[in-house]
Amino acid sequence: MKFSKEERFEAMKKVRDELVLFTESPLYEYRTKNNFFPVIGEGSHDAHIVIIGEAPGKNEALTGRPFCGASGKFLDEMCAHIGLARKDVYVTNIVKDRPEDNRDPSQEEIDAYGPFLDRQLEIIRPKVIATLGRFSMVYIMEKLGLSGEIQPISALHGKVLYGKLPYGDVALVALYHPAVALYNGSMRDTLKKDFESLKQFI
Ligand code: URA
Repeated sequence: MKFSKEERFEAMKKVRDELVLFTESPLYEYRTKNNFFPVIGEGSHDAHIVIIGEAPGKNEALTGRPFCGASGKFLDEMCAHIGLARKDVYVTNIVKDRPEDNRDPSQEEIDAYGPFLDRQLEIIRPKVIATLGRFSMVYIMEKLGLSGEIQPISALHGKVLYGKLPYGDVALVALYHPAVALYNGSMRDTLKKDFESLKQFI
């Protein structure tokens, strides 16, 4: 049975409160030393599409909002390209605190924060998950029972895969991370074209 609107709000608030006090996190000290915020996620708790990135960057950690910097601007552009409003989806990351110097998240961090993401998915129960980058792609494929189909993101980007979470069937759209287009302008069109795979689910 799906949670009511109030239950979803309360359950998500509990996730947020626990993340704020997640003192065992390997990134907690770095967060507090820099006056950063944890970035829990943003958007509709009733979304049928959840978009999952890697970890907050500096702008995100300073504001507590996911994808509000340069990558976020390109994410907005891709959403607009297929007529998807950010308010109608839920946007989050696997790792909820900023790793030092924008490095890739470590396996230890993914393991520490993964259960919070699992709870968020259980609360929202999206029918569609779009992953941005290989870290969230691999994490979600394992959760969906698709470990045997994991390949480099260069082979899976733009494809729709189907798997199961405890609450039901889920379609996965694996996408490159929008930051790729910032480093390599020629990837912009590929990313936008891949994003079109989400259009059928709007
Ligand atoms: N990159 C991510 O993976 N997530 C953000 O929230 C911002 C940049």
